[in-house]
Amino acid sequence: MKMQFEHISVLTQEVVDFAPESTQTILDCTLGGGGHSRFLLENFPDAKLYGIDRDALAVKAAAERLKTYEKQTKLGQASFSELPEFFAECGEPVFDYILADLGLSSEQLARAERGFSFLREGPLDMRMDPDRQQITAAHLVNNSSEQELLKILRNFGEERFARKIVGKILEFREKNPLKTTKELAQLVSSVIPRRLQKQGLNPATLTFQALRIAVNDELQELEVLLKQIPSLLKKDGRVALISFHSLEDRIVKHQFRKWENPCVCPTDLPYCICGEKPRGQVLTRRPVNATKKEVADNPRSRSAHLRVFAVEKTVL
Ligand SMILES: C[S@@+](CC[C@H](N)C(=O)[O-])C[C@H]1O[C@@H](n2cnc3c(N)ncnc32)[C@H](O)[C@@H]1O
Repeated sequence: MKMQFEHISVLTQEVVDFAPESTQTILDCTLGGGGHSRFLLENFPDAKLYGIDRDALAVKAAAERLKTYEKQTKLGQASFSELPEFFAECGEPVFDYILADLGLSSEQLARAERGFSFLREGPLDMRMDPDRQQITAAHLVNNSSEQELLKILRNFGEERFARKIVGKILEFREKNPLKTTKELAQLVSSVIPRRLQKQGLNPATLTFQALRIAVNDELQELEVLLKQIPSLLKKDGRVALISFHSLEDRIVKHQFRKWENPCVCPTDLPYCICGEKPRGQVLTRRPVNATKKEVADNPRSRSAHLRVFAVEKTVL
């Protein structure tokens, strides 16, 4: 039976437009349902595509979506930090174009049993790779210290009501462990004054985002991916990154700037003595966002930010 995978890819035309003209090798670091990969292969029908996702269901769905391109694709289940092992199996390729479309797929959100959604009753899980990751969101909320929970909500959710929410979690778990998504969503909603709840934003949004980032170590994973990219790109290759919240976007923006201008000399020195050489050029001074039409068709695209960096032939 054909697998249903609920996800609409964002900024697809923009992703294709930024690919180098003569793209022959592509790395999709976040296969999801294989939407971007398929679109790229339709536009570069002779290209070889390597793709990973840490979620086994995503890899399965992508394999189905890319079946007609089976001979030119190599897909596997891996996280960004496991890319070296994945490549060791396929002869250390280098790429014309690397794409990462960060965060969650709509399919992951839609499946109540994955525990990502405050709208669906399910276990407080949130692991992208439930077969291999041990720590669930329930484990974090029930076992972390007050300081650890505050750090998670503040650093990964920028939640201004972190102290109140954590206080309530500690009070709740004295009697019973928190087990489900709805329990946590209701608890958060009960401590944020109604008049301060943002219209159109569920009060539990930032708490869920923070826990999900912590469970999946998402910011560290992104840093690890960015570290590997220079050695994975060909001399005229490009990398395109789509992020969905400001924490990720900030990391991407700073890394791209650093690649473009890595000099660490004091600004009053007349010439550079640090010897750090630029790696290329940022192609997107500002992030590329979805058009009004795309947002109307796919509301999830509203918060998508695309940034692209190009390695120039002459500089490496
Ligand atoms: C927004 S979806 C990608 C959708 C895909 N571009 C498409 O068009 O169908 C993000 C995917 O990235 C995966 N992912 C997130 N962090 C990851 C990581 N550190 N390593 C590997 N995959 C990751 C998630 O499991 C999810 O399937």
